[in-house]
Amino acid sequence: MPEASASLRTQVVIVGAGPAGLLLGQLLARGGVDALILERQSADYVLGRIRAGVLEQGSVEVLGEAGVGQRLLAEGLPHEGIELAFDGQRHRIDLAALTGRRVTVYGQTEVTRDLMQARAQAGLRTVYEATDVSLHGFDGNSPVVRWRAGGRAHEARCDYIAGCDGFHGVARASVPTGALRTFERVYPFGWLGVLCDTPPVSDELIYANHPRGFALCSMRSRTRSRYYVQCGLDERVQDWSDDRFFDELRSRLDAEAAERLVTGPSIEKSIAPLRSFVAEPMRFGRLLLAGDAAHIVPPTGAKGLNLAIADVRNLARALIASCRHGDEADLETYSARSLRRVWKAVRFSWWMTTLMHRFPETGEFDQRIQEAELGYLVGSRAASTALAENYTGLPFEN
Ligand code: FAD
Ligand code: DHB
Repeated sequence: MPEASASLRTQVVIVGAGPAGLLLGQLLARGGVDALILERQSADYVLGRIRAGVLEQGSVEVLGEAGVGQRLLAEGLPHEGIELAFDGQRHRIDLAALTGRRVTVYGQTEVTRDLMQARAQAGLRTVYEATDVSLHGFDGNSPVVRWRAGGRAHEARCDYIAGCDGFHGVARASVPTGALRTFERVYPFGWLGVLCDTPPVSDELIYANHPRGFALCSMRSRTRSRYYVQCGLDERVQDWSDDRFFDELRSRLDAEAAERLVTGPSIEKSIAPLRSFVAEPMRFGRLLLAGDAAHIVPPTGAKGLNLAIADVRNLARALIASCRHGDEADLETYSARSLRRVWKAVRFSWWMTTLMHRFPETGEFDQRIQEAELGYLVGSRAASTALAENYTGLPFEN
């Protein structure tokens, strides 16, 4: 017997319930636009992925406007500076003094949890464990999204599809080849990250350039630390015991930080490859891409999550104007406006990655250039300001 299939209608189908998809759903609901979210994984799986940890001031403002800023304000750690470590010394970049702006340390998992909770409270629907999601008709006026869940086939007719399904999602892959231009740089190393319930080594984040490779000391709270070390692409997590990881991290820090480092059992350990990637444009008829579905940056500048939030801010406004008032002007310019800012973050992330890591092909000349640039960066107010301006986040419209 053929299985029953279910059909429904909504204004926007959002593919992906990561931070981009959930925030878009939240902003659309507040703007009076009906949306359904489809997510391939379970809610617990999404919450278990440890990713970004630093929010730009503008991102904090957008989350506040979306009505999910309460816990972020109470529990997020405002940071007014970062430290750059090289040549055995640490140098503080005073973000607040240089730009009047600061960042907030608050984990991506917490942003996701707050958005999930707001969605559940408002009675809005997210389909988790939706498989075989496929997109149709977005080059015309009547897009349809099909998927399977609970052993049944489903479809939703809609006005727009928002592809918020990350780098490996189905949305960008559904665009006909030839309609998309892609730009990519793959870096010859990854980051090995560890999360543990120990007090952070310092009050502020430390980005270290060391002959053994890059290291980053970050945190999630005053009792939970997040540490990373640059590693080879052929490394395997199972070859890194906690002791080996902390010995490596300690060896890349200045003596004082190394002395202060408190170690403890890891509660998460993973390796992430580093990549820059941009797909242009971000709109194809009635399909709009946002966040990692459209672009990836290496994590060094802490920009990935913040870029997703900036895209979604633009996209929500444009979809609300179209769905509520029939005004398509903002949708027409969504891709071009977003990409202008995206490329600036791609440039900054590439620059900070190049400055802070050891590349296998680095010769003595490149090494001296890196040292000279680091010296210039911490010695020049103009250069420090350029770093601080990008790190705390460029204006949304530029
Ligand atoms: P995602 O968070 O990837 O969400 C996309 C969602 O779509 C996922 O839940 C996925 O399951 C779902 N999905 C995928 N395919 C389908 C499908 N076919 N159907 C339905 N749903 C689908 N950024 C930083 O700033 N700092 C960091 O330290 C950092 N670390 C990272 C570590 C890793 C391992 C990764 C992968 C990324 C990291 N990032 C970091 C980047 C940052 O986490 C991302 O930029 C951010 O998650 C982007 O949000 P998003 O919602 O666009 O995409
Ligand atoms: C974190 C990750 C980053 O890439 C970064 O630049 C700063 C902090 C983190 O996971 O805490």
